[in-house]
Amino acid sequence: MVEKFMLLSNGVKIPSIGFGTYKSGNDEETAKIVKNALNLGYKMIDTASFYNNEVGIGKGIKESGIDRKDIFLVTKLWNDDHGYDNTIEAFNKSLNNLQVDYIDLYLIHWPNKLNAETWRAFEHLYETGKIKAIGVCNFKIEHLEELKKTAKIMPMVNQVEIHPFSTKNNIINYCKDNNVKVVAWSPISRGRVLSNELMIDLSQKYKKSIVQIVLRWHMQKGVIPIPKSSNENRIKENIDIFDFEISSEDMKAIDSLDEGDDMSVTTPPLNTIYEEVR
Ligand SMILES: NC(=O)c1ccc[n+]([C@@H]2O[C@H](COP(=O)([O-])OP(=O)(O)OC[C@H]3O[C@@H](n4cnc5c(N)ncnc54)[C@H](OP(=O)(O)O)[C@@H]3O)[C@@H](O)[C@H]2O)c1
Repeated sequence: MVEKFMLLSNGVKIPSIGFGTYKSGNDEETAKIVKNALNLGYKMIDTASFYNNEVGIGKGIKESGIDRKDIFLVTKLWNDDHGYDNTIEAFNKSLNNLQVDYIDLYLIHWPNKLNAETWRAFEHLYETGKIKAIGVCNFKIEHLEELKKTAKIMPMVNQVEIHPFSTKNNIINYCKDNNVKVVAWSPISRGRVLSNELMIDLSQKYKKSIVQIVLRWHMQKGVIPIPKSSNENRIKENIDIFDFEISSEDMKAIDSLDEGDDMSVTTPPLNTIYEEVR
């Protein structure tokens, strides 16, 4: 059974699937796909100041006609903006770009040597009510353990790269034990799953597309996928995953595609600027 929402450690409801927007196009194109996605049933929109599309996202939200309270909006603090004062300033810029008065989930985009100071600003913004939940991205276990030493509030979410070739079961288990929800970026491995033999077989077996199988696999593991698409049919396809169940045997078979990437590939050394294009 997969529910449509999960509960974060502070009791806030987070949708069990979201919509990714990295490389969503210019403001007009972004507004159009965000409006589409919201009207097709996505409740969570994932952006970042780094994506340079917050203005388009805000426009799409307005044009969708959907109540702000029914949308779970996520944005992220970029690497150049770490530190207490910079974080407050960057957050206000994102609010202004998005034309909203609160963010549902604000995330540190990449770990940095200033994590502790930045996190103090996150806690402050959270306490003022301008952010409903706070979290991180691309944090290894040691980053989370380090943050634990100074944090008053622990991250509610860790967003990391997860797909069948990079299952990150170590981080998923750590997060489960510490009541941190895991969100999967590049959940369909930017299309690499499409040519995998096992995935082709499972698609035929379940009469669902390969991408639907992969997204369902995430959700059955308790992981929240945020697939990106700019194509209306694929946007629809990617959310039509609530009507079937993958057997535990097939879940294990998909897990076995893991290539053992322990985040050393995606998480750079502290304080380096990372380009999301790999
Ligand atoms: N926190 C981080 O550091 C971080 C890093 C990377 C990404 N993210 C977030 O995670 C989101 C998702 O990751 P991603 O965009 O890298 O990769 P992804 O969602 O795994 O893959 C997106 C690609 O798959 C294609 N696609 C989507 N649905 C499809 C379908 N049903 N069939 C075939 N192809 C399909 C899309 O093409 P079309 O658009 O043409 O459909 C696009 O090229 C991002 O958009 C972003 O919001 C976060």
